[in-house]
Amino acid sequence: MTEENRPKFTTRFGVIAATVGTAVGLGNIWRFPYEVGSHGGGAFLLANILCVVFIGIPVVCSEFLMGRASRRNIFGAMSALAPEGGRWWRFAGLLGVASGTLILSFYAVVAGWTLEYLFQSVSGSLTTEGTHQSHIEFADFTAGWRCLFWTIVLLAINTVVVLRGVQKGIEKVSNWLMPLLFVLLVVMAVNSVLLPGAKAGLEFLFRPDFSHVDASTFLSALGQAFFSLSVGLGTLTVYGSYFPSDTKIVRSASIMAGLDTMVAIVAGVIIFPAVFSFGMEPAAGPQLVFEVLPDIFRQMTGGAVWATMFFLLLFIASLTSTISLSETGVSFCVERWHLSRGKAVACTMGFVTFFGVFCALSFGPMSAMTVFGMTIFDIFDYVTSNIFLPVGGMLVSIFVGWVVDRPTVARQLSPAPRFLCRVVIFLLRYICPLAILAVFLNNILG
Ligand code: PHE
Repeated sequence: MTEENRPKFTTRFGVIAATVGTAVGLGNIWRFPYEVGSHGGGAFLLANILCVVFIGIPVVCSEFLMGRASRRNIFGAMSALAPEGGRWWRFAGLLGVASGTLILSFYAVVAGWTLEYLFQSVSGSLTTEGTHQSHIEFADFTAGWRCLFWTIVLLAINTVVVLRGVQKGIEKVSNWLMPLLFVLLVVMAVNSVLLPGAKAGLEFLFRPDFSHVDASTFLSALGQAFFSLSVGLGTLTVYGSYFPSDTKIVRSASIMAGLDTMVAIVAGVIIFPAVFSFGMEPAAGPQLVFEVLPDIFRQMTGGAVWATMFFLLLFIASLTSTISLSETGVSFCVERWHLSRGKAVACTMGFVTFFGVFCALSFGPMSAMTVFGMTIFDIFDYVTSNIFLPVGGMLVSIFVGWVVDRPTVARQLSPAPRFLCRVVIFLLRYICPLAILAVFLNNILG
């Protein structure tokens, strides 16, 4: 596909909405709060911000520039930008495309849960009076066929958007949903801060307790930064390839990372004051959002409305991320196999649905199918977050720092000031690969 006829985002707002749309997702609203909760609060937040600034932003810049310089997906970009066609580097690209498909398969399941909880909030059944046992209700739901049903519904909505293409699908949907997401966030945060006893929650989130900091805090903070920024698998390379030629890369990467971190913090501001105000446990793990929050909504005045808002927020955030994950596969199929967009969508979503069924049934009918005690869902989550993403991120930083020729990198990063470009390149060459290697080894050996 040539530079001229490749689809592009049409406005600056569209670029920001789409990139923030991929970054802001379950990682911010579901994963970040329970990571903060289990790593002792504010200290984790501080470690996370350092990782975003010094490691996340340079790698985001790399992916954007690879996409824009080559106008291809990550596989094509590695071939186009490496000398002699990057015979080996292309495998790194392939790893990225595979990660995208696998992440989408389990991510769609959790995104499907948000649809069930949204449905229950709207119908009122989540917050009706009577005895509720959130833990059992959540376990029953995830073990049943409804879980599969919602996964398929989510994938179907996703397919419709991606079929409509880059401008009429991805950009348009992001332009509408992202502002709505920000409004919902602000309204909910204000409500939370006004709850009696909210102060304890805010202190937990913002006051760093350094007695909790150890190597694992820093390493989990880096893992969280990677997942949340959507780096390491080529999603941002694809979006970078849709950037108009005057988009400022360092600036877009900083805005995206800044807003992404802000949304995670605001999600913490929504959740922790409520958790403390109602005397719940902040370190509840992945169940925090699906088990602890429903209990809280039941005790709040207007609980059904707040629950609806919250799960709508979570659904919007996850949909714009699943869209970007599928686009990673779609653009690969279009470019590599010269498929029409329709066929590429069918091919990508066919794979994802196939794997997604196994992930969705991992909590019930297929829960006995385990390897090393992990279900299929757990394996996909573990392998992609702990192995594929860090390896992908490390390869991307080495590729842009050491392999792509300097003038191309400098041209793409301009008009950022020379000094800033130098800092980004220095971080990419030395700091990012070493830091990522440390996380990787910790995850594998630890
Ligand atoms: N960043 C998304 C989130 O925070 C997840 C994601 C990862 C999306 C990788 C695309 C690629 O939920």
